[in-house]
Amino acid sequence: MINPAQLLPDITAIAQGAGEIIMRHFAAPIPTTLKSSRIDIVTAADTEAEAYIVKELLARFPDHHIVGEEGGNQGAPAATAAYHWFVDPVDGTVNFASKLPHFCTSIALATRDREPLLGVIYDPTRRELFTAIHGAGAWLNGQRLRVTQTAALIDAVITSGFPYDKHTNPDNNLKEWAAFLVRIRGERRLGSAALDLCYVAAGRLDGYWEKDLKTWDVMAGMLIAREAGGMVTDYQGDPNPQRFDRGRYVASNGKLHAEMLEVFQSL
Ligand code: IPD
Ligand code: CA
Ligand code: CA
Repeated sequence: MINPAQLLPDITAIAQGAGEIIMRHFAAPIPTTLKSSRIDIVTAADTEAEAYIVKELLARFPDHHIVGEEGGNQGAPAATAAYHWFVDPVDGTVNFASKLPHFCTSIALATRDREPLLGVIYDPTRRELFTAIHGAGAWLNGQRLRVTQTAALIDAVITSGFPYDKHTNPDNNLKEWAAFLVRIRGERRLGSAALDLCYVAAGRLDGYWEKDLKTWDVMAGMLIAREAGGMVTDYQGDPNPQRFDRGRYVASNGKLHAEMLEVFQSL
């Protein structure tokens, strides 16, 4: 059995190494290339940071499987590898390419059936390192994280995000956005799913929801939010949306979870 706590120093160093690559690109002009649509972009920082992370992981764990946003499935085959890594080299690429300093690197270790064991998320502009180990808590630069105590949706500040096919798909989160808007104190769209989950963990936000999230967006952040006392499910309350490659996620401080799920049921 792997001991995730023992891996933490190395994975932290890898996430911070990726942060250095990203910040080098952030200081220069940032050309972009299109992916799935006109608004889904990739930069040299995404590909270079992921190549670095994957090289470092493969050197240490040649018999593990790696799911990288930019490079797809790498390392040992998914079906036989006991452990799977989920890597988002730059979460918040639209911010990054706009020179908006709110993005991060997300790295998670999970079992083959996608039970997250270790989550490391590094925000290189604020030098904030969010980490969690299954069963052992969540931390920000060494300080223990706790979710908020907010008990009613009307007092809550909540974030969300919109899918890359929002121009063409009518199921584009506008209905949900409108429904929450009239029930809460404040609604935000910050542009990094991984940091949204970390901010729920850190008590900076009371909740977060989003559809069409991929495993690399959420695997580390969902563990960090849960280990800080939060709750993460799909829109129906299923606690394991990460078992699927793409899913709908709701994260909260726990106290607000039922009220958040009711909003989806009301639509
Ligand atoms: C995106 C960001 C964004 C969220 C999108 C994600 P990317 O990840 O997390 O906040 O709304 O759903 O795909 O493309 O910047 O890695
Ligand atoms: Ca992402
Ligand atoms: Ca990304």
